[in-house]
Amino acid sequence: MSSNTHFAIAIDGPAASGKSTLARKLAERLGLVMVNSGAMYRAVTWKALKENIDPSDSAAVVALLNRIEIECGHDGLTSTCTIDGVDPGDALRSETVNANVSMISAIPEVRDRLVALQRSYLDHTSVIMEGRDIGSVVFPDTPYKIYVDADEAVRAARRAKMGEVDSVAQRDAADSKRTTAPLIVANGAVILDNSHHTIESGVDAAIEILKQQGLSHL
Ligand code: DC
Repeated sequence: MSSNTHFAIAIDGPAASGKSTLARKLAERLGLVMVNSGAMYRAVTWKALKENIDPSDSAAVVALLNRIEIECGHDGLTSTCTIDGVDPGDALRSETVNANVSMISAIPEVRDRLVALQRSYLDHTSVIMEGRDIGSVVFPDTPYKIYVDADEAVRAARRAKMGEVDSVAQRDAADSKRTTAPLIVANGAVILDNSHHTIESGVDAAIEILKQQGLSHL
């Protein structure tokens, strides 16, 4: 973790567990920048597909990685990410990106590059960062860690309601079984079961956990 006074709140969990909404609402309540790390993996996936690169060809993906510029920052409390100056916008959540992002995010060189960008946020600001390995790899020393979980049926229904074609169970299996930085409950993380929370009660539960973890910003 950075030696400055900025801190990170890590929110990890499987796809469609509600962690993005929770992180965004928590960020609004606490006045902190919310960083969606999944959007970074999605942006690299979008770029690879756009360049007709086979996501299973890791050498080709790494070659692409070495020639693109990735810039991450924030606009108000929301993180932003551009590739070669372009914000992919809604294309980040397309069916093809959903189907290929797990493969791209299993490539260690992709993770190294994006983890460095994720850590660099603390040079400028404190963050709430959501993803899969934020508490385990990106900020292992932060005391503020929540693992958001929800029943598989609840998660699938949430994605369907969003109108997305996304094989959540398949993506979770790939994200949990990969060798590099798999989805795990990080050391020190408290599990928040989000299956039956409303957005507001979920945020309240998260704030209680963070208080117990010693966050004095509350
Ligand atoms: O949070 P999300 O569903 O938008 O993330 C998309 C994919 O990105 C997810 O299936 C795995 C990958 N990811 C990752 O490997 N590590 C992260 N910290 C965040 C996302």
